[in-house]
Amino acid sequence: MIIDGKALASKMEAETKARVEKLAAEGRRPGLATIIVGENPASQMYVRIKHSACDRVGIRSENVNLPEDASLDDVIETIRELNERDDVNGILLQLPLPGNSDPSSAMAAIDPLKDVDGFHPMNMGSLLAGDERLVPCTPKGIIWALEQLGVDLEGKEAVIVGHSNVVGKPLAAMMLNRNATVQVCHVFTKDLASHTREADVLVVAAGVPGLIKRDMVKKGAYIFDVGINRVGDKTVGDVEFDEALLVAAAVTPVPGGVGPLTVSMLMSQTVTAAEMQMKTKKR
Ligand code: GUN
Repeated sequence: MIIDGKALASKMEAETKARVEKLAAEGRRPGLATIIVGENPASQMYVRIKHSACDRVGIRSENVNLPEDASLDDVIETIRELNERDDVNGILLQLPLPGNSDPSSAMAAIDPLKDVDGFHPMNMGSLLAGDERLVPCTPKGIIWALEQLGVDLEGKEAVIVGHSNVVGKPLAAMMLNRNATVQVCHVFTKDLASHTREADVLVVAAGVPGLIKRDMVKKGAYIFDVGINRVGDKTVGDVEFDEALLVAAAVTPVPGGVGPLTVSMLMSQTVTAAEMQMKTKKR
């Protein structure tokens, strides 16, 4: 089976739209502010996709584009201004920063209640402790899709390839919170296939086209391909899709799988952030 990320995302967006309309009727339409530093074309495209999703569900959105040479202090100053604004409920700093500079101090400057990416150390710490508040959107989308597919993680063998802060680490925590047995593999893992072959649920976020081949997949596995790679004029994932489909129970395509799910979770979390802020702030 092919996991239709677009269809699942539409379902989530319909739920989010209803929550947005309820808030808007009370005069509290949620707002999302994105920040891009520089002119990275991929970042510009991802942010455009996020703003279109905002338009579909009724979230107000704005983008702050800082120049390529903006300092980390400039970024933090922008974040502080957005933290203060009642009409901005979510703040998203698009990564990577120019020159791949370390974004952690900027992430930590975002009001944890407006941290719709779930990258603030407080939200990451809560997640690790089993208290999922605002969490990273790609892992959240994968967990939600598994629920929609009727896959209960408890007691399952889950294998994650890639140990990034954005996907692998938070997903491992979320899967442990649901009592899966979790293995996290990465570039230094020896004999990757010996691990992936054990996976009931396999999530691949390595950025290596064609990394996962048929003989690395367990029969009946659920596979989520987080990879987005340009090969010639085509966009492909990290999984040999046609091969995996022969063995697995279900596989996400690239494009049209994990990407739309992630964006739909960002919309949902922007509304969750707005709801949380209403509870904690008397405005
Ligand atoms: N760059 C790649 N993935 C992400 C993400 O999930 N959030 C942000 N802000 N930037 C990214």
